[in-house]
Order: sequence, then structure tokens, then C-alpha cells
Amino acid sequence: MTLELPIVDDTGVWGAWMSMLNVPAISVAMELKIFESLDGQPASAEDLATQMGYQERALKALLPVLSHLGFLNDYNGAYQLTASARSYLLNDSEFSWGGVFRREGRMLVRHKLLVEAITGKKEVHDGRDRPAESWESGQVDIQMAREVTAFMHSHSQASAVGMTKSIDFSSINRVLDVGGGSGCFAIALAGMRDSMRCTVMELPAICELAQEYIANAGVSEQVDTITIDMFRASWPEGYDAHFFSNIFHDWSFETCRELANQSFDALLPGGRILLHEMLLHDSGKVPYPVIAFSLLMTIGTMGQQFTLPQLIEILESAGFTNISSCHSYGYYSVVSGEKPV
Ligand SMILES: C[S@@+](CC[C@H](N)C(=O)[O-])C[C@H]1O[C@@H](n2cnc3c(N)ncnc32)[C@H](O)[C@@H]1O
Repeated sequence: MTLELPIVDDTGVWGAWMSMLNVPAISVAMELKIFESLDGQPASAEDLATQMGYQERALKALLPVLSHLGFLNDYNGAYQLTASARSYLLNDSEFSWGGVFRREGRMLVRHKLLVEAITGKKEVHDGRDRPAESWESGQVDIQMAREVTAFMHSHSQASAVGMTKSIDFSSINRVLDVGGGSGCFAIALAGMRDSMRCTVMELPAICELAQEYIANAGVSEQVDTITIDMFRASWPEGYDAHFFSNIFHDWSFETCRELANQSFDALLPGGRILLHEMLLHDSGKVPYPVIAFSLLMTIGTMGQQFTLPQLIEILESAGFTNISSCHSYGYYSVVSGEKPV
């Protein structure tokens, strides 16, 4: 069954969802005295991390969010308070909104998780709050798998179908969907033509669920699953494309390099790696939901959104050539590279 796209894209929903980070971004910056530190003394995320002993990765994601909200000015990577932040977000200002944001922050799990991401002092949480910790260990129980897979399926379904309308898959016949979740991308690819074959490579509990999604979509003849822990087991060979959607953004640069190397080794010569991600760029013209999505990654995973040059660097270092990027759907792009023949 081939799904038709809705008449509008999903960017409005992404914007509404990502606005949930507005309050924790402010409440955490107030609690951790980030506005006080930047008052009068502009600093980059790197400088602030050093001065305050905070985590650079989390500050690199938080400061652009505060800038986008109008509370910091960004002078080529050096951040300074705006008049609005100076009036209302310094804790000892006469007009401080500290009372509001302390109370709001106390009621939000994401406030606590963001404090931990910035200070690096982790507390024990429900494993579902930070799924990447379970992914890293390769241990995901069926209850968590069901919740997280339904979550991923919701936000990926339209972009999966949208991708098949904008990216050329005419020379690709066998796709390994690495960390393919519900299988929504593999299912959408199978809908392109009967000869397309896809395999969803996932952890055991997620494979079980993906099989349900695949059967419900009526594409079991074309899409199968393989239980592989991508960090611990060798990857299957014989595929002419490896597709990664929202995988690199879960991991550090070093881990992404390892994934790219694994992919390079397992792909057929002439095969392609395809990275489906929302891209940051340095121009400051990145849509707010993408900036906020990067902050969400620092809260729940070991990663962040990447810029195109960063992904190019990772792919080139693994040996991929002919690297290109193409807008896919909504806020997503596909960055692809080729394993030389
Ligand atoms: C952010 S989700 C992306 C899901 C899907 N590709 C999408 O874009 O909707 C990351 C996926 O990677 C899978 N994953 C994480 N660690 C893994 C591992 N060690 N081996 C195989 N898959 C893993 C997770 O189960 C999860 O489905």
C-alpha cells in the first residue's frame, strides 16, 4: 500500500512540539546563572563551558535556543545578553521572572534532564527519559521499545513518505535501514516499486515491533528485519545502500565515525550511505525547530544535530566519495556518499 502525503507538510507540528523546550531552556539558564555569566562579558559556548565547568556539547545547543528566543545576541559565536534578558531573566533584577521559571522548572522532567546535561552530574531516571543509554548497552525491554518506537514512528512517518518523492532511489535495489525503528522508511521505500528490497536492522525488541508495522503495511514480501546490535555484531553484507535516519544525531562524532566505518566495510563497492537528518548551519538562518531538536538530542542522547560540513568530514574520513546533500521533506535533508568501486 503506497501512502499519499497530506496536503501540508509537518513543519507546523514540529514547531509546536519543539516549543516545549522554550520554558526549560530559560528556567535552566536562570538556575545555572548562565545569564549572569554572560552579563557584560560576551562568551562563546566553549569559553562559558570552561569558565563555569559546564558541558560544551549542551551549551552549544542551549545558547542558540536562547538567542532564537530573543534573550541572547550572537556575535559570530560570542553570546551577550539582550535588553529583554537583562531586565527579566537575571535572578536579582527588580523585574526578574525568577519566581515563574523556578516554579515552572520544578514541574518539568526536561528541566532536570537539561540541568544534568549541562552540569554533567547525572541522576538515576526512568530509562525511557534517556533512551540512548539503553541503546548504547543494546538492552531495550519490550515496554520501552513499544513507547519509543511509536514515538519515532509518529515523527518520521510523513518524512519517510516525503523522502520517496524527493530523493532518487532508481539505482538502489537493496537497502539496509540501520536503526530503522518501526520500519516506516523501509515500508515507504518498498512502496516505490515491487523490486525494492529493504531490511530493518534493529535491536531484538524493536525488530519484533517493526514486523507488526511491516505486516500491517502489507509489504512483508519486500521488507524483513535482522536483529543486530550495530555496536557489537558484524553487519550483514550484500546491500547497495545503507540508510540511517535520525541515527547519527544520537551519538558523538567519534561514534558516528565508527558507524560510518562499519557501513563502508559492509557496503558493496559502488554502494551508497544515506543520512537522513535535520541539518544545522552556521549562517544563523536555521529554523527554530531544528535548533531546538539539537537541544532535545543533548537532553536524551549522546548527540546533537550536525552541520553539512561536519557530516561530510565524517563520511570522507571513512572513505566515502561523491558526497552530496539534498532537501528531502519538511526540515529534513539526505546526505549521501559513495563507496568507490
Ligand atoms: C532515533 S531512533 C530512529 C528510528 C528511525 N530510524 C527513525 O528515524 O524514525 C534510533 C533507533 O536506533 C536504534 N538503535 C539504537 N541503538 C542500536 C543498536 N545498538 N543497534 C541497533 N539499533 C539501535 C533504536 O532502537 C532506535 O530505533
